[in-house]
Amino acid sequence: MARTDPERAEVQEFFGLHFADIADIAENAVPVVAHDDLYRPVIPFIRESEGRVVAAALANRPMIAAGSVMMGGKLPNGVDYGPVLDDVYQLDLITVAADHRGQGLGTRLLSAVDAELSARGTRVIFGCVTDEHDVQHLQSFYTAAGFKVLDQGQPLPQFRGRTWVGALDAAPAFYFYRQLPRA
Ligand SMILES: CC(C)(COP(=O)(O)OP(=O)(O)OC[C@H]1O[C@@H](n2cnc3c(N)ncnc32)[C@H](O)[C@@H]1OP(=O)(O)O)[C@@H](O)C(=O)NCCC(=O)NCCS
Repeated sequence: MARTDPERAEVQEFFGLHFADIADIAENAVPVVAHDDLYRPVIPFIRESEGRVVAAALANRPMIAAGSVMMGGKLPNGVDYGPVLDDVYQLDLITVAADHRGQGLGTRLLSAVDAELSARGTRVIFGCVTDEHDVQHLQSFYTAAGFKVLDQGQPLPQFRGRTWVGALDAAPAFYFYRQLPRA
């Protein structure tokens, strides 16, 4: 897990290299340690023998939940995320270096995210895939990993009685989600 800022900078650099052609990867996608109270990120990464990062994933509290933390738990519309803050997490990014794909590293990253989130008592992890990615391959990958993969255009259901994506978020190619076992 990338727990320190230097490790997170390496992971950010890795994501930057691998998503260079994707417009929506922010320069500061990986939160710094000082913001951990807000996002509580889970950042597993794998190095090859020479030390180079070859695979990494990033899961965070969904933006809507992090936003509610900034406002003391409740959003201006009265919806209270306080009691369910760590119940639902979003898988924001996952990537394996092209020359290391198909060897199970992606699956290992997902298992590491699951183990950490289950230990926190998290009940659901979800994510979405945009059209910029290889949509068909990712449908297979997430299905193989046990996620429910929704059809294109199908909205993410509510979890714990709340919405977890903002109304203004761009419509993705598809959403996927999975219930986590109780630790
Ligand atoms: C998606 C990604 C992370 C998968 O990582 P990976 O290490 O290659 O995946 P794994 O080896 O763990 O594969 C797990 C399963 O996914 C499926 N899968 C993997 N590669 C596949 C491919 N090219 N086509 C179809 N299914 C595939 C298979 O079912 C595989 O199980 P199997 O090996 O038992 O057949 C990797 O392909 C990647 O980095 N892609 C580019 C970045 C990206 O699109 N990220 C997601 C958006 S943020």
